[in-house]
Amino acid sequence: MTVELRPASDAAPRHASSLPVTTAKAARPDAVALSDTSAAAGPALSFEGVLAAADVLASILPTTPSWSYPLLDEAVGRHTIVKHENVQPTGAFKVRGGLTLLATLPREVRRRGLITVSTGNHAQSLAFASRAHGVAATIVVPESTPAGKIDAVRALGAQVIVAGADMSAAADHAVGLAEERGLYFVNPGEEPAIIHGHATVYFELLTAHPEIDTLYMPVGSGSGAAGAVLVRDAIAPQVRVVAVQAEGARAAHDSWATGEIVTRPIDTFAGGLATGKGFAAPQSVLRDGLDDFILVSDDQIRDAMTLLAGAAHTLAEGAGAAGLAGVLADARRGDQSVAAVAITGGNASGDEIAQLTRRPQ
Ligand SMILES: Cc1ncc(COP(=O)(O)O)c(C=O)c1O
Repeated sequence: MTVELRPASDAAPRHASSLPVTTAKAARPDAVALSDTSAAAGPALSFEGVLAAADVLASILPTTPSWSYPLLDEAVGRHTIVKHENVQPTGAFKVRGGLTLLATLPREVRRRGLITVSTGNHAQSLAFASRAHGVAATIVVPESTPAGKIDAVRALGAQVIVAGADMSAAADHAVGLAEERGLYFVNPGEEPAIIHGHATVYFELLTAHPEIDTLYMPVGSGSGAAGAVLVRDAIAPQVRVVAVQAEGARAAHDSWATGEIVTRPIDTFAGGLATGKGFAAPQSVLRDGLDDFILVSDDQIRDAMTLLAGAAHTLAEGAGAAGLAGVLADARRGDQSVAAVAITGGNASGDEIAQLTRRPQ
């Protein structure tokens, strides 16, 4: 059996309305039902869910800073607001999703413990949140995972199991273990609580900066971008929302463009963007909610990382800089609107850090 990182909802009719996705706009008629694996996670996607997540997080995580930098504005060619999610305790915005999920899982599920598959920021997020809630967490990572990433997750108290040649095989293993051990399998892209948690980044950003015209966010599963759309629809409908993905890993982009959940190869150094298949829950929001979805090259992402280090004195990993790569790409096409971007993660590998001295192309 091959288990992919997607929900059972792929198999559900796309017009299913049992779990409507509601926003300030009319409820979308094509909302998809969410996965069985998400059943314990609570309500469907909504701005009310974002507000509830913001309540959960208020007592745990301080609001992250958002500034602009004259030198960056000059280099980019447009006024750009930068929100620093790279200063979160795990180094990435994903901690918001993990903490929201753990706070909303039923007691019985928390007692059983949870399992997920990830090599990166989602793994650290669930490990961090599980430790905070006294819940046992098991993270399955593929055999290719660098030792440093495994150490980071172990240091947060989670059990790490190395299994499978790639993410898909590791996911098969995780689902098998979930069945065998009675653990709750967390599908990183499909949990409403995780999407609501990620959305709080954009709730803070749009609340603090009413001058924003265009919001850019990096996309892997699309959970952050879907969260941004939920918030924009509710509180700042005039703002354009633009998703950005690596051209070498374009599954979310192509799922959005075709209206179908599609699989694509992965060829990018930016781990957080390296998703081989579209995710149904985020796509159900992105489909009508995105104003644009642009693809950037790895070199454009590297240039954005270098610019952030030099002009905004901040460390972004590849995925964390991809939003700014989108801002730059649109600026070159003449877009002068006020841009905003979250530096979604700062967990740069040694290789990524070494690249920072390279000259922008
Ligand atoms: C730093 C960083 N940025 C962006 C993303 C993409 O987020 P999403 O999966 O919500 O699209 C990830 C995903 O892991 C990430 O780690």
